Amino acid sequence: SITRHYKFDIKLQNVTRLCHTKSIVSVNGQFPGPRIIAREGDRVVVKVVNHVQNNISLHWHGVRQLQSGWADGPAYVTQCPIPTGQTYVYNFTITGQRGTLLWHAHISWLRSTLYGPIVILPKRNVSYPFAKPYKEVPIIFGEWWNADPEAVISQALQTGAGPNVSDAYTINGLPGPLYNCSSKDTFKLKVKPGKTYLLRLINAALNDELFFSIANHSLTVVEADAIYVKPFKTATLIITPGQTTNVLLRTKSHFPNATFLMAARPYVTGLGTFDNSTTAGILEYELPSNSSILNKKKIPLFKPVLPQLNDTSFVANFTTKLRSLASAQFPANIPQTIDKKFLFTVGLGSNPCPENQTCQGPNGTKFSASMNNVSFILPSTALLQAYFFGQSNGVYTIDFPNNPPIPFNYTGTPPNNTIVSNGTKVVVLPFNTSVEVVLQDTSIGGVESHPLHLHGFNFFAVGQGFGNYDPNKDPANFNLVDPIERNTIGVPSGGWVAIRFLADNPGVWFMHCHFDVHTSWGLKMAWIVLDGPLPNQKLPPPPSDLPKC
Ligand code: C2O
Repeated sequence: SITRHYKFDIKLQNVTRLCHTKSIVSVNGQFPGPRIIAREGDRVVVKVVNHVQNNISLHWHGVRQLQSGWADGPAYVTQCPIPTGQTYVYNFTITGQRGTLLWHAHISWLRSTLYGPIVILPKRNVSYPFAKPYKEVPIIFGEWWNADPEAVISQALQTGAGPNVSDAYTINGLPGPLYNCSSKDTFKLKVKPGKTYLLRLINAALNDELFFSIANHSLTVVEADAIYVKPFKTATLIITPGQTTNVLLRTKSHFPNATFLMAARPYVTGLGTFDNSTTAGILEYELPSNSSILNKKKIPLFKPVLPQLNDTSFVANFTTKLRSLASAQFPANIPQTIDKKFLFTVGLGSNPCPENQTCQGPNGTKFSASMNNVSFILPSTALLQAYFFGQSNGVYTIDFPNNPPIPFNYTGTPPNNTIVSNGTKVVVLPFNTSVEVVLQDTSIGGVESHPLHLHGFNFFAVGQGFGNYDPNKDPANFNLVDPIERNTIGVPSGGWVAIRFLADNPGVWFMHCHFDVHTSWGLKMAWIVLDGPLPNQKLPPPPSDLPKC
């Protein structure tokens, strides 16, 4: 294994989309940002220099960060953000993972323009558990705002209303031909007949789960969140923000005399305002050189059929097909006995409107979101620093509830316990605790699924269902053999998901909804995992250039 050095200069860059030019915060002037490529076992060193007025923090989403919690990146959780003019070096090793992940800004809504792929190849001389693809192509979904996304969220937080939705979804930064004034900004994948392409799909969109499909082609899912899965074929897939999915695309054996749209649009179950537009790219076969097909203009264009916006049964069906390989070569270390069980409700709620203010949320309140009715407030210093130096006083408390404060019971109409309390509350876990968390969607404020992301770990999704989780019945149906192992999971709309992980990584680890609007509203919490007794079970001291608050 080797060390791979990157330099990320954070600077402004003019970008035009939808006939609208604006100055965006970028890495090295690129949008989407540069690709990180490494092999499993490599060390990655990224020197980030902040040349813009915004505070910056970058997160290597899904990288386990074993003993390197200082490099994880969420602002005010593992580090204070990098101020203007300063530099911070993220230094971590990629251990036991291969596949696709993503990096993105982890402060305010800067992820809207600061994101890029992380490509992790297997160790040298180790092959994929499938035939070597002819080519590999990252396909990263995002959202484009004509407005400044930072202003969009800060205004929404002030008024208590829901933020404006984006103006377009994008594929590799490009909205594509189905939007006005956008056809020249279309991602094109040129392919040869009879070949296999590995598409590394990444959802970096801020606020939407996406369906994705390519007209007249099926896709074979082979990996999710940098973990191989049992391959299966599908015409369409669902991918939540923060998730990555590798698929094999087998092209037609002969030049098909047609081009094909690939398209993505949201899966929406909520009741609020949403963007139901579609981003598209083009799959184009290279004309055979001896071709007699001369009039390229006559080549027809086929469009994929995507599921209905609220097709929850497609989503449930797709997610149950995702199974880890769980082979001798790729063992799944699913915790079979559990030291600590948690039940967390996740959902929207509201906060009373402060006096002398008018709020535009539900019934004149402020929109908020919570887990176990706690709406998490980021501190003004970093949790990890406060923990490491024993200065938790006034920063956080260790009383995050293990269970909902009011027993959760959804009976068809949303329960009334929508008022949440604000706090910076964490759960402390001794080293090597085996943990089970049941994440129960509350359906409060509109049925909506929540892509929950855990930093610092992969978890196993051992069970899921609709309605209320039943601790007496549901565990009997848990899959403890080959459940999907991942870092982000959609908590089904009006349902629950059970996850298990082993707390073997000391540090402070964020867990939150990967819809940025829900994170901003407080749908987040943090775990503190204590050091273990052995030297390699301890969190080392912070690097000397760790930014100060
Ligand atoms: Cu991809 Cu805490 O995020």
